[in-house]
Amino acid sequence: MLIYPLFISDQDDEETLIPSLPNQYRRGINRLVPFLEPLVRKGLRSVILFGVPLKPGTKDALGTAADDPEGPVIRSIRLLRQRFPQLYIVADVCLCEYTSHGHCGILRDDGSLNNQLSVDRISDVAVAYAKAGAHCVAPSDMNDGRIRAIKLKLIEEGIVHSVTLMSYAAKFSGCLYGPFRDAAGSAPSFGDRRCYQLPPGGRGLARRAIVRDIHEGADIIMVKPAGQYLDIISDAKELGRDLPIAAYQVSGEFAMIHAAAKAGVFDLKGMVFESHESILRAGATIIISYFTPELLDWLSN
Ligand code: PBG
Ligand code: ZN
Repeated sequence: MLIYPLFISDQDDEETLIPSLPNQYRRGINRLVPFLEPLVRKGLRSVILFGVPLKPGTKDALGTAADDPEGPVIRSIRLLRQRFPQLYIVADVCLCEYTSHGHCGILRDDGSLNNQLSVDRISDVAVAYAKAGAHCVAPSDMNDGRIRAIKLKLIEEGIVHSVTLMSYAAKFSGCLYGPFRDAAGSAPSFGDRRCYQLPPGGRGLARRAIVRDIHEGADIIMVKPAGQYLDIISDAKELGRDLPIAAYQVSGEFAMIHAAAKAGVFDLKGMVFESHESILRAGATIIISYFTPELLDWLSN
């Protein structure tokens, strides 16, 4: 039930500690297999991949590099499929890592999102990841209508039966994504994501987004962040009775737990179990967690 996030850069030999995300590294493709081998041996079953283009000149207004066949995500999907046949590979689908402005879609001249162009582009990227061998594609951009567009394109391409579509359906805007944006280099260069992500108080909006994405063809519904949105996880379980529900304990939650443990507020292991058990109690059956390696150790002892 655990999915471990991996940041993969286009510097093939890189292994760089991400300062705001304790113990998490940005790695090049050459570092992946040696890093994952012991984890897979300990029982790691699934990873979610985020691409981090660092080469100068890679980013543009359309996020062209997102589905570059020689880019880090597509090459990693191929490599991991081949080297770890039992590993379930999820590919996060978004443009913010690849756009020059750092937003999750394609913009109009006035800086607002162009929904049609964004959704067309994002569904192309999702299909490219699926064709490369991703078991699951997970659009995190929150552009309206993207689930439907991806599902239709997967049908058109004749691969819909072999790909799971996990929707970041209830994704709230807020303070908890900072370390991720450091790691992925995806902070917006102007404005924020409040016009496409949900406001923290928006329970009704989240419920509507969940229902909408189920109707558009999502196979898994995700709620994110997790710990501050347990009511939404519970809503998702109720609204999506026949779907698996995933929750993402995001970078800011992970960093907070580490910081508080370091400050002596609580014991790290105790809080990791408490926070994950609470997410499960609320109704999630899948947790995307930066604590996955620790949990593999702790759960086997
Ligand atoms: C990209 C994306 C983000 C996260 C997952 N996919 C950042 C964002 O929306 O700004 C956040 C994950 C985390 O904070 O751990 N759209
Ligand atoms: Zn994004």
